[in-house]
Amino acid sequence: MLDKTKKDWWKSAVFYQVYPKSFQDTDGDGFGDLRGVIGRLDYLEKLGVDGIWLSPVYASPQKDNGYDISDYRGVDPRFGTMEDMEELIARARERGISIIMDLVLNHSSDRHPWFLAAKADRESPCHDYYIWRDGTPDTPPNDMTATFGGPAWTWAPETGQWYFNMFSPWQPDLNWENPALRRELYDMIRFWVDKGVEGFRLDVIDNIGKTPDEKITFNGPHLHEYIRELRREAFREDTLVTVGEAWSADVETAKRYANPDGSELSMIFQFEHTTLDQKSKWEPIPLSLVKLKKCYERWQNGLRGEGWNSLFLNNHDLPRTVSRWGDDGKYRVESAKMLAAMCHGMQGTPYIYQGEELGMTNIRLPIEQYDDLEIKNAYREQLEQGRAEEDILSAIYARGRDNARTPMQWSAAEHAGFSQAEPWLPVNPNYREINAQAALADPGSVFFYYQSLIALRKCYPVFQDGSFTLLEPESEQLFTYTRSAETEELLVVCNFTGESVPYLRPEPFANAELLLSNYEPAAGVLRPYEAQMLYRRKR
Ligand code: GLC
Repeated sequence: MLDKTKKDWWKSAVFYQVYPKSFQDTDGDGFGDLRGVIGRLDYLEKLGVDGIWLSPVYASPQKDNGYDISDYRGVDPRFGTMEDMEELIARARERGISIIMDLVLNHSSDRHPWFLAAKADRESPCHDYYIWRDGTPDTPPNDMTATFGGPAWTWAPETGQWYFNMFSPWQPDLNWENPALRRELYDMIRFWVDKGVEGFRLDVIDNIGKTPDEKITFNGPHLHEYIRELRREAFREDTLVTVGEAWSADVETAKRYANPDGSELSMIFQFEHTTLDQKSKWEPIPLSLVKLKKCYERWQNGLRGEGWNSLFLNNHDLPRTVSRWGDDGKYRVESAKMLAAMCHGMQGTPYIYQGEELGMTNIRLPIEQYDDLEIKNAYREQLEQGRAEEDILSAIYARGRDNARTPMQWSAAEHAGFSQAEPWLPVNPNYREINAQAALADPGSVFFYYQSLIALRKCYPVFQDGSFTLLEPESEQLFTYTRSAETEELLVVCNFTGESVPYLRPEPFANAELLLSNYEPAAGVLRPYEAQMLYRRKR
């Protein structure tokens, strides 16, 4: 177990993201719940993770699966009760697993009592918790659009004003300029810290300083001032782990959020590596391995000593990486392992998204079976713009968020052992082959490969400390790099293709120890999606 009284303990930790709606249902409503997470702690302990990032379980109308909160201090009855939450925190802690909650501080639900009061009465003290502009119902303050479609301004006839909503009309943006609102949020965070929560993931945190009149949504003028205040007022303990979601971040801005002086956050999630294979959200393009490697190199070297990387391939907003950069058919197992090795060999804190450790894949559904509001709006808007339906669907198959949100595949039983009832989103039909029960019965499974990766990170300090050097930067087939510390060195070799590729190790690694592989190594060649992790002592 990690010593979590140590500041920066999270630098040697591995986290696991649970998307509770799709993880495990225990009360037979087709909707995952907290008792389901409690029931699967043994599984997570076996995998070896140190913490769970729990996507939102707060009371919510579920317009955006809980990222629309109507009570920040309450548990949604669909997920369970506050007692269930307390039990989860306690049971997880017994196993050395910390609970990291999701904090949605940029916006609330339009059903939150603050918003209901704000909308009913301009004189309400809550009115200024949101962003309002006077006007007339036919002319919004400007032409900004919302991430999930439609305008970013919604008319409220009750007050005769427009309110700002960056994501959807059901998610009105909070006005961080208001100190009383900020106080409410800090107090709410303390409520959860007092319950034993050991960290937070901060949803779209780069948006909280927005100034919509200037059409600035990311990196507003007061952003870092607010984050530093948040750190001082709400994240008082040095041992809390905080990770901010920052779609806008580049290496330079990331250094501010994750400054080693501890004045802001532990680390951020940045997304550069996930957007290299798209022209825009709905226009996927083939991945260039050279670009991907240069991107990782920039982040690995850029944050060295000046920040801290998070490492992830998947989350609930992204398609499954094995379907995107790997091969989810013939070489599914090999490529899932190869991608894991590529990611977990680097410097930073790894996050595994539920099902990734099984090599779960994307799904294709008829349009009416999708749930995600982003998918539904994108489908409608693009049809209206005249894009061919076939094209739109193939973009949704490649990029849609529901790819990652299909129920966790626990077994070959009906509904993949996720629920006794029809799940809220269809189970991927490949569950009879790809499921946890099968993985646990097979020592060669993706699950046990992840288990080894997690264990290796705990055994060899080079995983945490080693400097990164990219080898063969111009190869479109191989991703190879070293991690070098004072007395030890790691070589990670990944074949990103479905072909065999000739390969000779660099000389210092000729007799190196093989820490992990997904094939029995053969001299002079790497088989399709082969990955090797090699280790040597320098002296
Ligand atoms: C973040 C969440 C995403 C959500 C959005 C709005 O990007 O990860 O799921 O829809 O913020 O809260």
